[in-house]
Amino acid sequence: MILAIETSCDDSAVALMDLEGNVIANEISSQISLHERFGGIVPEIASRQHLMTLPLLLRQTLEKHNLTINDLAAIAVTAHPGLIGSLLVGITYAKSLSWLAGIPLIPVDHLEGHLLAPFLDHKELSFPYLGLIASGGHTHLIRANALGDYELLGKTIDDAAGEAYDKVAKMLGFQYPGGPIIDQIGKDFKNPSIEFPIPLIGKKTLNFSFSGLKTAVRNQALAQGVYVEKQKLISYEEFKAQPEDERKLKVMNIAASFQKIMEKIILRRFKEALRQTGLQQMVITGGVASNQGLRTQLHQLAKKHRVRFYHPESKNCTDNAAMIAYVALQYFKQGDRDFTNDLRLNASPKSPIGQLKLVLPAEESKKKNL
Ligand code: KG4
Ligand code: ZN
Repeated sequence: MILAIETSCDDSAVALMDLEGNVIANEISSQISLHERFGGIVPEIASRQHLMTLPLLLRQTLEKHNLTINDLAAIAVTAHPGLIGSLLVGITYAKSLSWLAGIPLIPVDHLEGHLLAPFLDHKELSFPYLGLIASGGHTHLIRANALGDYELLGKTIDDAAGEAYDKVAKMLGFQYPGGPIIDQIGKDFKNPSIEFPIPLIGKKTLNFSFSGLKTAVRNQALAQGVYVEKQKLISYEEFKAQPEDERKLKVMNIAASFQKIMEKIILRRFKEALRQTGLQQMVITGGVASNQGLRTQLHQLAKKHRVRFYHPESKNCTDNAAMIAYVALQYFKQGDRDFTNDLRLNASPKSPIGQLKLVLPAEESKKKNL
């Protein structure tokens, strides 16, 4: 059994996975209620809260399955990227437990966790595949060739996709995280009428850019008099309970129009990446992959291009420890890395995947004689 700990951002998560890869436990203690009124994560609150919840969550999870640390084969922990204070809480616990039990400590990259998360729910998925990690901190389009062999095809040149959802939601008066709220409005509000500009249009690039779009939404909200600067941020339930007035319709129209353009942007990148790579499988993962509108569009694209499309179940799209356990197990089984309880393990805000150099599209490489 592998025990995995994930505390890179605002969720304390613990998972148990047996050595055949079955998820035995996938527990999460969300801190959202502590951060939502700030419209984003407050790092100091996050690390302090991990300190309080993680020991309890670990004990409860082991007890529930009648296990002690002596039943574990290894401990996996998210080592990067993330908020340093939050990562350090998980790493310190993982180190102590692995030292106490005398078992290997396996550091895992959070982005690799997201990238491989679709394997948790789709045993039929195999390498190579085209994967988009779309989370609150990253938007990376990757060609996943094999375990540990990843090529970066494109990434955001400014904000991450999830960050764009959260910021747009906040300027319309909604609490963090804004993605699920905009997703819901996209379903509830039919026929959005605002045509936001498509970023990097006309280019064959596989990069993303969301900051110009965010400004366009801001300008629209200001022009329509619905931009929220200082008012208290609210949940979608509170918003729905408000009277059906003109302001409400304007907010819904802006949010649903933004949802529509996000679908268009992401769909275009997948289409172009499929064309450039010829890959037969595509994956969307990370928090934004829970988005229903996006999933529907991507399903249709995959059908049209006769490629297979996978996304993790929603609980495995957003941050979780099962994906960390999965990655750890793959390297553990491979057996070519030394995991002897390394107490020097430290947290890092940077990720090897996040630092990958962009691979030029085939046509560009030809032009440049590479
Ligand atoms: O992967 P994740 O849980 O954490 C990071 O590693 O960042 O992603 C969180 C992000 C947030 O920005 C949140 O608004 C977004 O994922 N998100 C969504 C949806 N659910 C979560 N964005 C769009 N639609 C959703 N349904
Ligand atoms: Zn994440």
